[in-house]
Amino acid sequence: MKSRKSIRKQVAVSCSIFMLVLIVGSCLHEPFIDPSSLNNGQSSTPGCTSSGTVCFESSVLPIFLSSCARSGCHDAVKKEAGYVLDNYNNIVRKGITPGNANGSKLYKVLFESGDDQMPPDTPLSQAQKDSIAAWINQGGKNTVNCNCSCDPTEFTYAAIIQPIINNQCVGCHKPASLGGNIDLSTYSLVKVQVDNGKLQGSVTQSAGYLAMPKGSKLSDCQIIQIKNWIAAGASNN
Ligand code: HEC
Repeated sequence: MKSRKSIRKQVAVSCSIFMLVLIVGSCLHEPFIDPSSLNNGQSSTPGCTSSGTVCFESSVLPIFLSSCARSGCHDAVKKEAGYVLDNYNNIVRKGITPGNANGSKLYKVLFESGDDQMPPDTPLSQAQKDSIAAWINQGGKNTVNCNCSCDPTEFTYAAIIQPIINNQCVGCHKPASLGGNIDLSTYSLVKVQVDNGKLQGSVTQSAGYLAMPKGSKLSDCQIIQIKNWIAAGASNN
């Protein structure tokens, strides 16, 4: 870890010199999103937005919790590389420059490769990266209880259920990181947890089940959507 850190420092220093001398190029981080290309914060990641603002609580925090703050990584116990990424204050404490995603370390690492890639097992999806970029560029605010446009009567697997699970669960429940030995990365694997009752029990945080997502809770509307989908047969629709 230390060597990775110092390599990053060296890269950063040589990068700045390179840029100063040549006044061209963008060094290592070519694929950065131009903030002006974002649709005024309308992120394609599931979650609530209010007035075009990416909602930290419903769209951004779940990404950090499931992909960064997993146990053994950037959680309060392991504090990998000095980063604890389990709540708003800890996330913005270092590595976020409000208003400037491209200048924010926690955003830049999403585009690294090899040993420096974060998360190390699987890169975030483009939609997740876009959400984080838009949130930082909008000031990195602690937006909670956002005006959620979630409709409990809509609950198809493809449009609603799978995006919730991808954003809130799969970071901890995929082949590369199998929390509780449970994989939620495909429909048929999700269906196993529907059929044994654990999906509903865990997201409703009912007695006798472990409360999921670990460390947080889905919105009431999302919980109803999942219950409705299960009650309607949990099909791959
Ligand atoms: C931060 C990581 C993390 C996230 C996010 C997460 N889980 Fe888990 N999950 C775990 C771990 C680890 C376990 C194993 C038990 C434990 O150690 O608490 C587990 C256990 C479970 C279980 C077994 C529960 C039981 O009672 O036996 C289910 C079902 C489950 N998770 C579903 C989900 C769903 C659905 C989501 C998203 C809504 C989710 N998890 C989000 C880490 C996570």
